Amino acid sequence: MAQHIHRRHFIGRLTAASIAGMLPAPLLSAANAGAAATGNHTTGTLAALGGPPVRAAAKKWPKWPYVDERMVAEVVKTTQSGVWSRIQARENGNVVTFERQFAAMLGAKYCVGTGSGTQALAVSVAALGIGPGDEVITSPYTDFGTISAILTCRALPVLADLDADSYQLDPADVERKITPATRAIMPVHMMGLPADMDSIMAIAAKHGLKVIEDACQGVLATHRGRPLGSIGHLGCFSFQASKQIACGEGGAVIGSDAALMDACFTIHNHGTDKKGKHVTIGPKYRMNEFEAAVLLGQLPTAAERFRLRNRNADYLTEKFRGFAGLVPQKKYPGTENGSYYNYAMSYKKEHFNHASRQQFLKALAAEGIALSPYIPNGLHREAWVDHILRLDDYRKMYPAARLKAWEDATRRLPNCDRVCEEMVVLHGSGALLAGQADMDDVVNAVMKVYNNRERLQGV
Ligand SMILES: Cc1ncc(COP(=O)(O)O)c(C=O)c1O
Repeated sequence: MAQHIHRRHFIGRLTAASIAGMLPAPLLSAANAGAAATGNHTTGTLAALGGPPVRAAAKKWPKWPYVDERMVAEVVKTTQSGVWSRIQARENGNVVTFERQFAAMLGAKYCVGTGSGTQALAVSVAALGIGPGDEVITSPYTDFGTISAILTCRALPVLADLDADSYQLDPADVERKITPATRAIMPVHMMGLPADMDSIMAIAAKHGLKVIEDACQGVLATHRGRPLGSIGHLGCFSFQASKQIACGEGGAVIGSDAALMDACFTIHNHGTDKKGKHVTIGPKYRMNEFEAAVLLGQLPTAAERFRLRNRNADYLTEKFRGFAGLVPQKKYPGTENGSYYNYAMSYKKEHFNHASRQQFLKALAAEGIALSPYIPNGLHREAWVDHILRLDDYRKMYPAARLKAWEDATRRLPNCDRVCEEMVVLHGSGALLAGQADMDDVVNAVMKVYNNRERLQGV
């Protein structure tokens, strides 16, 4: 079977290559993706207009979240043990064991488990001593947890614009947004692909800033041989149910600076240090033994699923190579793989007869392929911006002129707006664990919609 697919793939590429010289640019693009796909499903009437779909409704995608017997056994064992909290369990408990294994997997010396990725980020900000009057530069294109972590420390989230092709922070705009109050940069490894870490680390070093990696989507991915989360001063992860390693709600901070990681522990432990002394201000953000049981049960096989997601993502990227209608997320030099929380692409409507993204997604869904627009608005367009401008806390901490300049800059992030308009994603945690034939369904459905682009306005 594997050999068969290989051969078809080869023939497809040969066909595309041999006809390439004869076709105008948009059709050449279609040939590259369409001819390489299996089957003859890329023409015919759109399913949205009454034709048969590319993918039958009965064909299922892998279930998510991932569950196996080992995970169930760990949870049952924990339930029966009656040891449900990390402070009962102490040094041999699930949370501590998970922290050791997770740190080792990611090449860090230490890990602190938390109740969510948002908590991990907030602990990191606080542990670095960042608070009222300080500024942290981060992305407008992320889960609100990223920004919420900065706000709960009463620091000012300063949003830099994106590189519209990678959906990651644009380092040039990061550097433009640095002020005397800037204390840290929080790059978000969007979709689990590395942000431009070469540039971000260089900017941080030049300006004496800390780097907190939001690797909530980036578990196990590597950049120049280093796992995401281990490149900056601290790295944060989410194990929320949709994440590639998941336990419902959960998170972790990793790092290799002992004093800083001790501070993370103390802060997440309501200000109580490892010796039990109540020494500082901190919330109670501890991971519990059940969450760690679910995580411990899936760690041994997590790398297998990571490799499968990469194989499928590489396959899609190869199939779409040269196709101008859907452009996969740009990767920076040094990117070795990705975690693929989502397989993300930019929809270029000018190559689809100017059909809207909504029309494209509707036609695709009728073909049996559900892609999503993902984040509808950049976070600079959400109500929290007005809220903190009115909030007494922020008005006391930041001069009026600074808040006005912040507001003006925050409202003007055109690349992020473009990303929000063009984004289409295949959800990585579940769908990217399917087989190669399922990936072919994705490609065939896109090409069928492309080949029917003259009729797309009518769906
Ligand atoms: C990039 C990013 N940052 C932060 C978070 C927050 O993590 P959590 O939902 O575990 O609090 C998420 C999760 O959705 C995320 O995707």
